[in-house]
Amino acid sequence: MTEKLISINNLSKEFLVNKNKTCILKNINFSILKGDIISISGPSGSGKSTFLNILGLLDSVFDGTYDFLDFNVNLLKNNEKNIIRNKSIGFVHQFFYLIPELTVLENVSLPNLILNNQMRKSNDLAKEIIVNCGLENRMHSKPIYLSGGEQQRVAIARALINNPELIIADEMTGNLDEKTADSVFEFFLDKISSNNQTLIYVTHNQKYAKKANTAFEISNNQIHKI
Ligand SMILES: Nc1ncnc2c1ncn2[C@@H]1O[C@H](COP(=O)(O)OP(=O)(O)OP(=O)(O)O)[C@@H](O)[C@H]1O
Ligand SMILES: [Mg+2]
Repeated sequence: MTEKLISINNLSKEFLVNKNKTCILKNINFSILKGDIISISGPSGSGKSTFLNILGLLDSVFDGTYDFLDFNVNLLKNNEKNIIRNKSIGFVHQFFYLIPELTVLENVSLPNLILNNQMRKSNDLAKEIIVNCGLENRMHSKPIYLSGGEQQRVAIARALINNPELIIADEMTGNLDEKTADSVFEFFLDKISSNNQTLIYVTHNQKYAKKANTAFEISNNQIHKI
């Protein structure tokens, strides 16, 4: 039997906007199994990034319950969440968030260095993934000297280095031209399916949304299958 990776019950999320409580997500139930490939689309401002931040243990201020692997997220302390996130979740952000002072090699190896504290091992692992991502000629460059597509692949390499159970990608092709977006997306999906990892990605593009095993939409504070 395939194991559950995420189980969310009755999740609601509000933000304070101009001192008024605004409900973004209301009574959401959502569960996925290990190995699932899930897309989430929906109008701008509907709460997709808000939902991903909760799934990725970046935001724990919500009502309802969230179980990730064997953990009840509601009961975890911040440092426990940080450790679980670093080991088990790879996050590819829309705007990369690479560290500008670090080279490609250093950016990619960092999460592994934090996990294992073995510089040589982390560097070797990072080099392998960087080559695999077709960036061997950029190993020692700083992010500012890379194209958007190259930076995106560095962000992907960084998300993959600890071989996380779950990868979360927020609009990762949103600011790439169509050809680069296609190749980044195919490359990413290939890697994840061949490693049997679980992927949740947000996209505005129906062409990419349809490549998932299950496509969801967030609208009117709810999430539903489409
Ligand atoms: N920290 C915050 N404080 C107050 N309001 C917020 C905060 N973060 C998000 N919001 C509001 O919550 C709503 C949902 O935002 P979110 O970023 O999740 O949308 P989205 O679906 O990811 O949109 P997009 O497709 O434009 O990225 C928006 O109205 C936004 O203004
Ligand atoms: Mg968003």
